[in-house]
Amino acid sequence: MSYQALARKYRPQRFADMIGQDTVVRTLQNAIESGRIHHAYLFAGVRGIGKTTAARILAKALNCAHGPAKEPDNACSICTEITEGIDLDVREIDAATYTGVDNIRELREVTQFQPARDRYRVFIIDEAHMLSAGAWNALLKILEEPPPHVIFMFATTEIAKVPATIISRVQRHQLRKVSLEELLARLQQICEAEGIEATRDALEIVARRGEGSVRDSLSLLDQIIAFSGRNITADDVATILGLADTNFFARLVGSIGDGDHGTILEALGEAADSGRDFKMLFRDLLNFVRNLLLVAGGAPPAMIAGTPEDVATIRSLSERFSYSDLLRIANLLIRDDETVNRAEHQRLAVEIALLKAATFPRLKAVEEALGGGTTPAPSTPSRRSSGPAGEPALRSAPQQKASGDLSALTARLQKARPMIASYVDQAKSATKEGNRIIYTFADAAYVDLLLDAKATIEQIATEVFGEKISIDARADAPEPRAEGRRAEEKPSALRDDPIFKSFQKHLGAEIKESR
Ligand SMILES: Nc1ncnc2c1ncn2[C@@H]1O[C@H](COP(=O)(O)OP(=O)(O)O)[C@@H](O)[C@H]1O
Ligand SMILES: [Mg+2]
Ligand SMILES: [Zn+2]
Repeated sequence: MSYQALARKYRPQRFADMIGQDTVVRTLQNAIESGRIHHAYLFAGVRGIGKTTAARILAKALNCAHGPAKEPDNACSICTEITEGIDLDVREIDAATYTGVDNIRELREVTQFQPARDRYRVFIIDEAHMLSAGAWNALLKILEEPPPHVIFMFATTEIAKVPATIISRVQRHQLRKVSLEELLARLQQICEAEGIEATRDALEIVARRGEGSVRDSLSLLDQIIAFSGRNITADDVATILGLADTNFFARLVGSIGDGDHGTILEALGEAADSGRDFKMLFRDLLNFVRNLLLVAGGAPPAMIAGTPEDVATIRSLSERFSYSDLLRIANLLIRDDETVNRAEHQRLAVEIALLKAATFPRLKAVEEALGGGTTPAPSTPSRRSSGPAGEPALRSAPQQKASGDLSALTARLQKARPMIASYVDQAKSATKEGNRIIYTFADAAYVDLLLDAKATIEQIATEVFGEKISIDARADAPEPRAEGRRAEEKPSALRDDPIFKSFQKHLGAEIKESR
């Protein structure tokens, strides 16, 4: 019998089974009962508290053969198919992969059709903050005049990244972190259903560590069951979650510093054997690196959660690094946080993130051996040691000739028309020749979007420059970068690097640029 993760096995199929989201549930049910059905919903909140779950239940409640009703019956073929994820009219879209021009066109077209069978054609767009500017624009056009049979449900952990123009057109539901008591009760109920004996103390530690997330609490419980079987005590939980961690993370970070890939993989292998959740492992690692930074920066021991031994371990480790090296490692890891969270193969994603961090000092050495002189690319989180240490990388701006003026324009657009600014942001280059500004884009779709907004940009540009400005946009094939070519010719040391080779083999990596 295969083991099914608890979070999947116990996904609520009715509103009544959801915990901690009473306000949202009541609002949705009242709306259904009184027939006030919105065409766009947005579910916001941290991970694992029921955003996707609520969207799916709502889709069922609205489409159920015996609905629209306050609860789906979970018996008709529509409910069953939605639960299984095979209903033709209820589509789940992962925003991160849904960015291409074809997808946007498809979205426009598909909303024009009547549903195949159900009452509504529902699009559940998960991780909505990852949508491209082009996709948002297409959605905005649909939301301005929504076809009556189409319903969008967005879910996001980062509402700040959703354009204001979209937010003003959706019904927004803020989901909350679940309280400790509710989590505890849920864990008890699930243990009972699974025939697992767990003390209240043990489950309380789990619930605390879950930090308000039902999913995280359940994956912790999975790990603990894998370790201690059907009898769980507080001691077991402390062992699994506990202090052994400081040594474990010290070993990991130590080997990142040493560039010791073997030890990194070995340690992660042990973590996998003991059933650890890699997403959480990565978050704990970030926390550990934060503690290292605190200690290295001279913070008093009281600021670091842990025993005196933990603090001593952290201190002696921190002495092996310069502060800027620590910042560099922290920056590299933070950049991969999102990737790890979203990855399907989380162990692999964590391995790659750590190997990358461990390889970084050597990449730098290669670059220096080449004679240096390359400027950090905009997206590089780290800076040369002479720069302000660890200052977060600025968002990449188009390469601008008259950069002062053009960036004033970009800043104005960002304030006044964030959606348009996000297209401009995609430009490969921006040049001002006399009273003409020309943007070039690698993706032709953006040329259309920009030209759609031409009049607005011209008006704002005219204000910014104090003269009449005209705007033009062109598609431009990506050209190989000068540095990229050089990197390909020279650094045989990099090409022979075992880590690079493994990136190349497993992920099809190529050397574009050495930093
Ligand atoms: N409010 C909740 N009540 C009960 N279980 C929940 C709740 N939120 C999340 N879960 C559990 O966590 C899992 C993931 O939930 P999900 O709705 O995908 O979270 P989100 O979309 O907010 O990240 C569900 O399958 C369920 O087991
Ligand atoms: Mg989700
Ligand atoms: Zn039904």
